[in-house]
Amino acid sequence: MQTAAQRVEHQLTDKGYVPVYTTRVIEQPWDGYSATDHQTWSTLFQRQRELLVGRAAKEFVENQERFGMSADAIPKFSDLNRVLKDSTGWELIAVEGLLPELTFFEHLAARRFPVTWWIRKPEQLDYLSEPDLFHDLFGHVPLLLNPVFADYMQAYGAGGVKAAAIAPEALVNLTRLYWYTVEFGLINTPEGLRIYGAGIVSSKGESIYSLDSAAPNRIGFDLERVMCTRYRIDTYQKTYFVIDSYEQLMEATRPDFTPLYARLADQASVPAGSVLDSDTVFQRGSGEGWLNDGDV
Ligand code: PHE
Ligand code: FE
Repeated sequence: MQTAAQRVEHQLTDKGYVPVYTTRVIEQPWDGYSATDHQTWSTLFQRQRELLVGRAAKEFVENQERFGMSADAIPKFSDLNRVLKDSTGWELIAVEGLLPELTFFEHLAARRFPVTWWIRKPEQLDYLSEPDLFHDLFGHVPLLLNPVFADYMQAYGAGGVKAAAIAPEALVNLTRLYWYTVEFGLINTPEGLRIYGAGIVSSKGESIYSLDSAAPNRIGFDLERVMCTRYRIDTYQKTYFVIDSYEQLMEATRPDFTPLYARLADQASVPAGSVLDSDTVFQRGSGEGWLNDGDV
């Protein structure tokens, strides 16, 4: 059953689209996009694609091309879904914005990826505090064509459903895992470190900062370490975790997490900027420009 709050639609005001909590799955109102909306997509698409040459993991751009994503117009979910259906079997569904946690997990577990249907306003090109269509489509959707990553996303959703039932206090640990992989992950390749996290690839500033800045730590991925580590929601990350491959993610998260959750419950969280003796350090950050408070 829906509550009144969940029935309210997303509304366009002079502050842009105001986020309203709803769990409804809708049709992407493609005909309703304005010329400005398409232009915003186009500007962001071109800008990020240029910036991401030699920065994003190669499957990222390759898969955007397999999807036929271009700067011409906002893609139609129905077109993208045809490609997805024939490859990894995922399906995009249009939503108003962030979903309640359990609903989100259930969609992922069923290989449905919720995509925010509306796009930011032109004055929000550089920063937006919540996901919009550009972040979701440009950032998340390409890797859903990668078979291993696609399986990881489903396993994550199923793991979330399970955690909500048996260890709800561990959801914070799962959220950290998502944050430091799906949103802000780096991958080590023969050509050097590359970006695969959607939160990075959809941000001009962080696409540069995450790879080039001397300020943040870059540390080898370790499941338990990541699940203990607090993160930033209002600044660039203090630490990025580096995977060797998508297989590594899949293998590290394959075991039953029940004993891990019990262990994590007794462990103190690690501040976002800490480097531990046990870390594999790619780079120890200078910490320049860091704010002392605000880790979540
Ligand atoms: N293997 C985890 C469990 O048993 C589920 C999971 C998979 C969690 C992938 C996160 C990522 O709970
Ligand atoms: Fe995201």
